[in-house]
Amino acid sequence: MRILVLGSGAREHAIILALRSEEAEHEIFAAPGNAGIADDAAVVALDPNDPGAVEEFADAERIDLVVIGPEAPLVAGVADALRERGIPVFGPGRAAARLEGSKSFAKRVMDAAGVPTGRAVRAHDLAEVAAALDELGSPHVVKADGLAAGKGVLVTDDREAALAHAAVYLGSAPVLIEEFLSGPEVSLFFLSDGDHVLPLSPAQDFKRLRDGDEGPNTGGMGAYSPLPWLDGPFGSEEEFVDLVTRTVAEPVIRHLDAQGTPFIGLLYAGLILTPQGVKVIEFNARFGDPETQVVLPRLVDPLSELLMAAASGHLEDLPRPAFAEATAVTVVLASEGYPEAPVTGRALTGLDAAAAVGGVHLAHAATGRTDEGLVATGGRVLSVVALGTTFAESTSRAYRALDRIELAGGQYRTDIAARVVED
Ligand code: AMP
Ligand code: GLY
Repeated sequence: MRILVLGSGAREHAIILALRSEEAEHEIFAAPGNAGIADDAAVVALDPNDPGAVEEFADAERIDLVVIGPEAPLVAGVADALRERGIPVFGPGRAAARLEGSKSFAKRVMDAAGVPTGRAVRAHDLAEVAAALDELGSPHVVKADGLAAGKGVLVTDDREAALAHAAVYLGSAPVLIEEFLSGPEVSLFFLSDGDHVLPLSPAQDFKRLRDGDEGPNTGGMGAYSPLPWLDGPFGSEEEFVDLVTRTVAEPVIRHLDAQGTPFIGLLYAGLILTPQGVKVIEFNARFGDPETQVVLPRLVDPLSELLMAAASGHLEDLPRPAFAEATAVTVVLASEGYPEAPVTGRALTGLDAAAAVGGVHLAHAATGRTDEGLVATGGRVLSVVALGTTFAESTSRAYRALDRIELAGGQYRTDIAARVVED
C-alpha cells in the first residue's frame, strides 16, 4: 500500500514503525515527519493542517490510505476533504472530532448515549463557577472547554486557585467544573469504521512531569502496557475490555452515527476506575501519545489492514486484534523547561548506543538534523521504547538505554511502570 501519515511526533513514528514491521512492504510518506521518521519513511514538506494541500498530494501520489496522527488536522477538516474526494482516511471528520475538541460536546454525547462519566457543570461567569465549585465539592476540577494542549485542566483543593484558573479561560469560552473522580487511570483505544468498533490493548499513561505524579500536567511522560492489575477487579483484561466496549465505545459510536456524524478513526477513551465503576474522563479522536508507543509494538495483526478496514467500513469482517504477551514500557525524554518553555537546539547524542540495548527502539518526536548532528527541536524529544518478558526486564532495558543518551538539561521520570515491576 501507499500510505501517508500526517504528524511529526513519537506517536506517528510508532505508527510508521508498526507499518514497517509488517510482512507486506508499504511505500510510506510522512508529513511533516522528523529526523527519526526520515529514516523510516519519505518525508514530505506538506502542511498537514491544509486540507487542499493534503488532498492534492494524496491524489497526485496515488495514496491508498491517509492516517491522521494529531488532532489539529482533524479539527481543520482534513479527513472531510479526503473523504469527499474518495480517498480512504483513518481519522474522523471535523464534526465527530468535536468529541475531543469540545469537552461539553463530549459530555452531551455521553449523557445522550448513557455512558458513565462524572457530573459536570458548564459555567459562563465567575459566579456560576463559584456555585458549581461549592455544589460539586473539593477536590475541584476545572477544565477549559476547547483544545488546550494538555494545559486546560486544573485539579486542586484550593478554591481560590480553581477560581483563578477558570478566570483565565472565561474570557473566551465557558469552562467546565467537574466532579472529582478518584482511582487508577486507563487509556483504551478503539478502531471505529463509523458503525463497528474493535478494541486494542489497554495502557497507562503518566501525565505529570515528575516522579510520584508531582509537577505540572504534560502531554504524557511515559506509559506501559498491558495492565496486569486489571485481572483482580475485572477477572481479566479481556473482561475489562469487553465491559468498556459495551458500555462506552459502542454507545458513543452508535450515537454519533445516528446523528449523521459517523466517527471513523481512533476513539481514545480516558477512563478512571472509580469505586463506583468505570467512568470516562475524556475522549480523544486520535491515538494517544505516548500510549501508542507501547500498544502498537505488542500488536500481532498487520496495522495497515486494521486501519484500512476502519477507513473503508469493513471492521465487521475482522476478528478482534491480537496482542503479544510481551510487556512494553516507554519513557519520554523531554527538553529542559518542558512543558512551560522548552529549551531547543541542544545536541542529542548516544542514540545508536541506546538503540543497541536489547529489546529497545526509539520513536522520535522533536528531533532535527543539523550539520553538527541531531538536535532537540521541542518539548517531548523522543520516546525510548522497551519490550521484555517481564516489566522488570522492559523497564531496566528502557532506563539502561536512557543512560546512554545525552541531552543537556534533559528530563525524564524514573518511576514509569514501577508499580507493575514490584508486583
Ligand atoms: P483531561 O485533559 O480531561 O484528560 O485531564 C487531564 C488529567 O487531569 C487527567 O488525566 C486526570 O489525571 C485529571 N483529571 C481530569 N478530569 C478529572 C476528574 N474529573 N477527576 C479527577 N481527575 C481528573
Ligand atoms: N497521552 C495523552 C494523550 O495522548 O492525550
